[in-house]
Amino acid sequence: MRTPMTLLLLGVMCAASAQAEVDKKAERNWKAKCASCHGATGAGDTDQGKKLAVENMTKADWQKGKTDAQIKEAIENGAKKGDAEMEGFKDKLDAASIDGLVAYVRTFGGVGAKKAKKAKKAKKASYESQPPSSMLQAEN
Ligand code: HEC
Repeated sequence: MRTPMTLLLLGVMCAASAQAEVDKKAERNWKAKCASCHGATGAGDTDQGKKLAVENMTKADWQKGKTDAQIKEAIENGAKKGDAEMEGFKDKLDAASIDGLVAYVRTFGGVGAKKAKKAKKAKKASYESQPPSSMLQAEN
């Protein structure tokens, strides 16, 4: 039976899985479009990254020195440091993907890539184990 409650429940479940999907999508986008220069872990330890002298995004100092807005600005419109240049991705990625990448870049901070992955898995597990009803109550 399709009561409004079931529909609401479905909606909440979709929202939760959409969130997990965004994380995966961000990881895919990172690997496909960013990792060649910035490295899979954000350390910039690729040949290309070394040539362009990209910053090590896993450093706490780097993370502290950047606001989300600055990270987003760089992804949208590109960045330049000396001769090294990064093109903007505004025309190649939609707004949600760019926001996803901002969040993904934040997972590099101070945490090793492995730990970040673990944290993500834990987060995903908590989505799955958390009964959506707790979220429904918040809406009443
Ligand atoms: C062709 C190599 C290249 C690719 C591909 C690339 N970048 Fe960059 N990126 C750079 C360079 C060069 C800089 C400037 C030096 C720096 O800040 O590390 C930079 C800077 C940045 C910065 C910091 C800007 C600032 O304010 O200091 C962020 C954030 C960033 N890139 C994210 C991304 C994301 C996300 C992607 C994928 C969508 C990406 N980059 C793809 C080369 C690249």
